[in-house]
Amino acid sequence: MNILMVGAEANPYVKVGGLGDVVYSLSKALVHQGENVAIVLPYYASVKANHHKSMKLVGDISIHLSWRHHTAQLYTSTLDGITYYWVDLQYYFDRPNIYGYYDEHERWAAFVHAVHWMLPVVGFQPDIIHIHDWPAGMLPVVIQTIDGHNDFYKTIKFVLTIHSPAFLGDFPPPLVEDFYNLPMSLYEEGALRFHNQASTLKAAIVYADHITTVSPTHAKELLTPEGSFGLHEVLLPLQHKLTGILNGIDTDEWNPISDPHLTYPIHEKTLAEDKQKNKEALFQQLGLDHPDLPLFGLVSRLTFQKGIGLILDNIDHFVNVGAKFVFLGSGEAELEQRLREFAFKYPSSVKFIQGYNNPLAHQIYASSDFFLMPSLFEPCGIAQMIALRYGTLPIVRETGGLIDTVKGYTHYKEEATGISFHHYSGDSLGWAINQAIDVYNNKANLTKLRLKAYKENNNWKRASNSYLTIYQPLI
Ligand code: GLC
Repeated sequence: MNILMVGAEANPYVKVGGLGDVVYSLSKALVHQGENVAIVLPYYASVKANHHKSMKLVGDISIHLSWRHHTAQLYTSTLDGITYYWVDLQYYFDRPNIYGYYDEHERWAAFVHAVHWMLPVVGFQPDIIHIHDWPAGMLPVVIQTIDGHNDFYKTIKFVLTIHSPAFLGDFPPPLVEDFYNLPMSLYEEGALRFHNQASTLKAAIVYADHITTVSPTHAKELLTPEGSFGLHEVLLPLQHKLTGILNGIDTDEWNPISDPHLTYPIHEKTLAEDKQKNKEALFQQLGLDHPDLPLFGLVSRLTFQKGIGLILDNIDHFVNVGAKFVFLGSGEAELEQRLREFAFKYPSSVKFIQGYNNPLAHQIYASSDFFLMPSLFEPCGIAQMIALRYGTLPIVRETGGLIDTVKGYTHYKEEATGISFHHYSGDSLGWAINQAIDVYNNKANLTKLRLKAYKENNNWKRASNSYLTIYQPLI
């Protein structure tokens, strides 16, 4: 089967959040199952700067978008059996960031046109085009409306994965005609309309042959007003084509036994000792004191979605009772600033490392006793699965994929793999942290839970099998 993944991010070249992990790891797992997988991405400035030497030029295409005409060079590279195609639309993508520009609608419209036209040029005829989130959401509409009878395109089936319902890709309706060259009736009759805007995510939902989201619980949440950002109105009548498939983690990259970034490998038989040795090394490296005290770690994008505010509400109290905190991440300026202030106030108890540092991320996952993930919403979440694999107990809010991956102590007792709480409030998180400290102080209990966590197996084989059972009946 020929599968083309289309989104805005894919590891190891381009990663903003978990989506980049998923597009790459799922592709890699499908290649292992014998499928022919390609990923197409814009040729971003950072990719060009770091990888241009290993790229092969395979052709070029012309794009007409409103009154602008562009020529895009097409490059390719191969990694782990996956073919990456790169669309070099310099005017739109030779920029430092992936998202967030004033001409966002125009950029992604240009990319959608490029993907449409490049397929015959590079000679890749997909059986399945698998779209991730909103950026290329208009691709099925464009292909089916413009080329639905063309032999090359007519058998292509479309799968959409919703990683986040919070981004609708909404744009002013007249651009349906102006940027996409499509009849306004598609908007007027409702297919592309969502709350009086055109929406690329709505378009993909309507045009996809199948829709998935990244956990079974989130599939249910998407059918409710609270959990779907209003998309339940669109999804309820289409629920027969909606499936929740839990993401996996890359168990090659996140392997406690062979992880090159750890000071000591973490083995099942010596879990407590190995974790403690890593923790001591991390304390020394970061200048924290008392590695006998519980360490709460966080590696995250710092956005409202992640519930960082609930953590901030609790730092003063828990530092005073002897907790240690390490935060790694970047994002909203205000959250960064407040974390910086706490690190300044408690230099031997709180560390904030702004940015993303891969070796340090590995060390935090491995060395923490507890991993904080009090998300407001979390379609799947990857960090908690990584923490589990290193025997680190996640503290999660009961939402989305966090429910599907972490067994909370209150409900599961000795069978638990972490600690969970329900209400989105600082008090509830404080209650969960207190529970964590109780667990920490009862070493026999702590060891039991850590072992349960360590033995959880969230690999991509399971998830890729589930995707294959979605693709196969479509073709
Ligand atoms: C988004 C979601 C997150 C999920 C990731 C990968 O970032 O917010 O929950 O794990 O996509 O699917």
